[in-house]
Amino acid sequence: MRPIRIALTKGRLEKNAVGLFERMGLDCTQLIDKGRRLILPVGPYEAVLAKAADVITYVEHGVCDLGVVGKDTIAEHDTGEFYEVMDLGFGRCRFALAGRKGEDFYSGYAMKTIATKYPNVARAFFEKKGMDIRIIKIEGSVELAPLLGLADAIVDIVETGSTLKENGLEVYETVCPISARVIVNMASLKLRKSEIESLLDRMEQAGASMEA
Ligand code: PRP
Repeated sequence: MRPIRIALTKGRLEKNAVGLFERMGLDCTQLIDKGRRLILPVGPYEAVLAKAADVITYVEHGVCDLGVVGKDTIAEHDTGEFYEVMDLGFGRCRFALAGRKGEDFYSGYAMKTIATKYPNVARAFFEKKGMDIRIIKIEGSVELAPLLGLADAIVDIVETGSTLKENGLEVYETVCPISARVIVNMASLKLRKSEIESLLDRMEQAGASMEA
């Protein structure tokens, strides 16, 4: 049988994930010195480096048993085809509704336009408020949209708040908090239960916190 495979989100969450593996006592030498390799041994496990949304795809399809991915990506691609089992506590930031400083977003009756990289998250947020909005999908630097007059506001990730501040924007409302989570393939959790549970136990002991 192949080793238990963990899909890791490349980039921002990577360093913290490696730190977690090290605290778990796993040998991360190859993962740290990976060059351009995408599949690396980590102790008895195998780490797969992928873009956030692809982490979900690989786990859903069962070619990776577990994944480390931000709640932002999970919220946007919530297919219900995997289990979210643990909050890793790192990669903390939030989704926020933001726009030009000093403007009253909720004033007026005209339909609002929201620019975002996360259309599902934005739609769900305004649906809860019973507000009809128009969404424009933007791929990055979403802050540009209200500055250029394309949108009334954005729904985006805010970490330190400096991107907003340096561009004359401000948070109108927090949508929800974000942090890195562990997701598990549904079949793997049944078929390789003891291996996966012992891995999750080790993660928890190394400082992550189990979610209900
Ligand atoms: C994210 C997000 C904001 C920024 C927030 O963008 O979309 O632009 O980080 O961080 P801050 O509150 O600390 O300033 P990212 O850097 O991932 O790039 P992107 O704009 O291309 O999505």
